[in-house]
Amino acid sequence: MAVKKEKTNRGYLTGREIREIAKANAKEIKRLEAYKNRKAPEEEFLSELKDPDNILEIEDLHTYFYTEQGVVKAVNGVSYDVPKHSVVGVVGESGCGKSVTSMSVMRLIQGPTGQIVDGSIRFHSKDIKKDAKGKPVLAEDGSFEMEEKVYDIAKMPIREIHRLRGKQIAMIFQEPMTSLNPVFTIGQQLDEVTLIHIPGATKEQAKEKSYEMLRLVGIIPENVYKAFPHELSGGMRQRVMIAMALAAEPRLIIADEPTTALDVTIQAQILELLQDIKNKIDGSILLITHDLGVIAEMADYVVVMYAGKVIEKGTVMEIFQDPRHPYTIGLQKSKPTMTLDDGTELYNIPGNVPNPTNMPNHCYFKERCAQCTACCNGEYPEMVQVSPTHFVACHLYREEADHG
Ligand SMILES: Nc1ncnc2c1ncn2[C@@H]1O[C@H](COP(=O)(O)OP(=O)(O)OP(=O)(O)O)[C@@H](O)[C@H]1O
Ligand code: SF4
Ligand SMILES: [Mg+2]
Repeated sequence: MAVKKEKTNRGYLTGREIREIAKANAKEIKRLEAYKNRKAPEEEFLSELKDPDNILEIEDLHTYFYTEQGVVKAVNGVSYDVPKHSVVGVVGESGCGKSVTSMSVMRLIQGPTGQIVDGSIRFHSKDIKKDAKGKPVLAEDGSFEMEEKVYDIAKMPIREIHRLRGKQIAMIFQEPMTSLNPVFTIGQQLDEVTLIHIPGATKEQAKEKSYEMLRLVGIIPENVYKAFPHELSGGMRQRVMIAMALAAEPRLIIADEPTTALDVTIQAQILELLQDIKNKIDGSILLITHDLGVIAEMADYVVVMYAGKVIEKGTVMEIFQDPRHPYTIGLQKSKPTMTLDDGTELYNIPGNVPNPTNMPNHCYFKERCAQCTACCNGEYPEMVQVSPTHFVACHLYREEADHG
C-alpha cells in the first residue's frame, strides 16, 4: 500500500488507497500479535552476545506503527550496543526514534498499531535461579544461587517479559507523575518493588530497602515515605522515580529525558545524582536526551539517530572531537554555548526530516546536506568503520573504508 502512495505522490490518499492500507495493516498486525502472544519454550528466545563485555546488543531493530496513512517506520534498522558498566547517550532530533527504540527494549510499544517487526535485542540477564516449580534455588551458604542467560527480548513472548522489566531493566521517564500511582503513598509504591522482586522479602525488609534507596537519592526518608506523589515537587518526584528504579537493583537503567520536565537548577541536581549513581550501581545507563551538554558530561559512548536510523556512533571523545556525519556536525553547531555573542544567531539545520511513511531510497539527510555529492543519489549509505569504536553512515567516508 505504501508503494501505491509513492507512485501517486499527490500528497493525499484516495478512498481506495486508504482501504488497501487498512487491509494490509490488519493482516500484518494479526501476524505480529499472534507472535507476541504465543507460548514458547525458553530455547526459542535464548541467544548469545556478540561481545561478552556488553549488557545489551540491539541489532537491526525495526519497530513500526501501522497507521491509517501508512506504515511509520519509527525504528528502521537500528543497531547499537551498551557495554557493561557504561553510560550510552542517545541523541537526535525530536521524532527520530530514540524513545521508540528504548520502549522496544522494555517491550512497552503500544499494540496493536505499534509492533516490533524484526531484529534482535540481546540482553545479558543475571537472576536468581529457580527450580522446576519456580522456587528460588539456595546456595550452600543460604544465599540465592544466581544464573546467567542471554535473552533476545524482541523474540520473547510478551508474557515472559516480567523476567526483566522493572527488575533487571528499569526505566526513568520524563514525567514522573505518569509512572507514580496517585492513590498510593511513596512508601507503599517503593516497598512493592522489593516485595515483587526479592523472593521471600518481608514488609520490614522492604521498608528498610525503601529507606536505603531514598537516602541514596538524597531524600530524608521520614519526610517522604508516607507522602502521596502530589505532595512532592517535580524534582522530588523524579528522585523518587530514580529510587524506585534502583530498588530492584537493575543491571540496566533506561533514562528517557530524565530532566526535561524540570527547571534548570533541579535538572543539574538530578544529573549530579545520576552521575553519582552511575558509580554506585553494578550496571549500565542508557541515557536518552536531545541535550548534547548532558551527553558530554555523562556518557562514555554516544549514538546519534536520524529518522529512525543510527547515523553515527562512537566514544564520547570521537563524537565531540571528531564528528564525521554532516548531521552530527550540524547538531553540534546548533548547540547553544556560553561564548555565543549576543549578535550571533544559533545555527539551525535547514529543511525537514522526510515523511516517515514514505522514506526515500537514498540517504535520508540528502535534502538537508550541504556536503551532498553525486554518490549520495545512490542507495542508503552503509555503516562505515572509521576507528575500532567509531562508525558513520555517510558516502563521504566510503573510500576511507575501501582503502582501509
Ligand atoms: N503511537 C504512535 N503512532 C504513530 N507513530 C508514532 C507513535 N509513537 C511514535 N510514533 C512515531 O515514531 C517516531 C519516533 O518517535 P519517538 O517518540 O521515538 O521520537 P524521539 O526521538 O523519542 O523524539 P523526542 O525527542 O520528541 O522524544 C516519530 O515519527 C513518531 O511520530
Ligand atoms: S551520504 Fe551524502 S547526503 Fe548523506 S550525509 Fe553523507 S554527504 Fe550528506
Ligand atoms: Mg522521546
